[in-house]
Amino acid sequence: MNTDAGKARFAKATPEGSPYAANLPKVKNASHVVALCARTSVDDAHLSTLLAQEEKDGRFPTPEGKEMQAWTQKQVYLALGTILLGAATLGIDATPIEGFDPQALDQELALNEKGLKSVVMVALGYRSAEDFNAKLPKSRLGAETVITAL
Ligand SMILES: Cc1cc2nc3c(=O)[nH]c(=O)nc-3n(C[C@H](O)[C@H](O)[C@H](O)COP(=O)(O)O)c2cc1C
Repeated sequence: MNTDAGKARFAKATPEGSPYAANLPKVKNASHVVALCARTSVDDAHLSTLLAQEEKDGRFPTPEGKEMQAWTQKQVYLALGTILLGAATLGIDATPIEGFDPQALDQELALNEKGLKSVVMVALGYRSAEDFNAKLPKSRLGAETVITAL
């Protein structure tokens, strides 16, 4: 969404006075806000479409039928990572936002009726000169801490 009206709809998931209010300015002041959604179920028709496409592309997957929600949400986080990297490559700032009311957004965008459920949002744009966070140093654990060589 890149219109004020669209962003106002997203803002219903981060309202004033709620635990998510700190994210309200991020939603309102971003250039674009994206909601990443997961399918609530994967029906036979969709599985057939996926399988046909992957077969056409030379792959023979065996997708897990169990724990579908966990699986679909993992796919969403792959897309999230790709958006964050892609935006950074283009010099666009991005903030992933988990701090919102997913039920409110699902209702506002009628996502359940589409077989979807919101998982995470991304606010995109260019940083404000007053953005204190942008001037803070990055904090990253060292490679020796997060990578174990075997
Ligand atoms: C899964 C996830 C959820 C996040 N949710 C929020 C959020 O709700 N609001 C927010 O301001 N930042 C959120 N962030 C962004 C972090 O606050 C941000 O990564 C942190 O400010 C450090 O910035 P850096 O990644 O540029 O070092 C989230 C980050 C991740 C990875």
